[in-house]
Amino acid sequence: MTALVTGAAGFIGSHLADRLLADGVEVRAVDRLSDYYDVDLKRANLANLETHSSFSFLEGDLNQTELGPLLDGVEVVFHLAAQPGVRASWGREFEIYLSDNLLATQRLLEECRERELRRFVFASSSSIYGDAERFPTKETDPPAPVSPYGVTKLAAEHLSRQYFGGFGVPTVGLRYFTIFGPRQRPDMAFNRFIRAGLDGEAIDVYGDGLQERDFTYVADAVEATVAAGDRGVPGETYNIAGGNAATVARVIEMLGDLLGGELAVNHQAAVAGDARKTGADTSRARAELGYDPAVSLEEGLRRQIEAERERRAATAVSSQSPE
Ligand code: NAD
Ligand code: UGA
Repeated sequence: MTALVTGAAGFIGSHLADRLLADGVEVRAVDRLSDYYDVDLKRANLANLETHSSFSFLEGDLNQTELGPLLDGVEVVFHLAAQPGVRASWGREFEIYLSDNLLATQRLLEECRERELRRFVFASSSSIYGDAERFPTKETDPPAPVSPYGVTKLAAEHLSRQYFGGFGVPTVGLRYFTIFGPRQRPDMAFNRFIRAGLDGEAIDVYGDGLQERDFTYVADAVEATVAAGDRGVPGETYNIAGGNAATVARVIEMLGDLLGGELAVNHQAAVAGDARKTGADTSRARAELGYDPAVSLEEGLRRQIEAERERRAATAVSSQSPE
């Protein structure tokens, strides 16, 4: 099988490409290597993938690259390329979100209209729910994003569904819930907390720390993504969450135990765009994709800490802040 992975130099995309290569899939990859965070981290993700003879990479922007040759012979598209991050999506930055998340998705879908794809899997987000009306939240509950990022993800979901309804592009949407694990983006909470903990620095917590997330280990999200490429129901959307509900405060306590000392905390103002709580009903993914998340929060944190230690030992340089 030949698959296209967009955003393959990023956190989840690089894990997905790893997994597909291990399964014997021919992986074509595209990424514009945006500078949302340290590009060297993306290059390191790619260096690992480029050791495989079944992997090919094009550095390019989906809004500009000629998409035809990229898609020729591809059976499954995994569209993960996006400008991520809920809190950074206000103000002038919104233009980038619009371009990477909506315009690029439309351009890719348009190119897929005349093709015989098995699946077009699209990475959506728990952020489309905003402050959900009920928990656990079902796919059929009303979306109401509280960040501009979430608005672009929801719009792209709607667009994908139109390309299914109108032109038969077999789109499958996955609403990932806060993914963590090795190579997590450096703007995300656990990555920041682990680096601060290892450096003996204080952690910044936005608001009271009692915001809650349904944290999902990256290998579980990848498993669901591969299954969606195989048997996701076209036109359908699935919650992909780990069942690891915890507040930020609880995670900090756990990290203190794992790192061998309580972490110092600076409380900062709450940031616009943050939902108070996420929590998914994953029964649809369990029933239709055979989704069965296996990695607990504690085990996943342990693996993420270990990976950061190894990364530091390999580069012998302290990681940089994304800002
Ligand atoms: P990431 O930033 O590590 O990876 C995304 C990659 O897409 C980046 O390397 C970027 O350079 C690339 N990209 C962006 N715009 C592009 C364009 N126009 N053309 C080509 N490449 C482009 O992010 P991630 O955390 O791995 O997220 C992957 C996907 O999953 C995104 O769609 C994100 O919105 C979604 N998602 C992530 C999470 C999470 O917790 N990490 C949760 C929900 C949804
Ligand atoms: C994450 C991803 O960053 C988004 O790309 C994705 O779309 C979203 O998950 C999703 O599930 O849809 P978020 O839940 O904000 O967004 O994940 P983190 O950045 O890891 O933040 C988790 C919590 O920690 C948030 O409440 C945030 O306010 C808090 N946080 C984060 C801090 O208190 N301090 C920090 O330094 C960073």
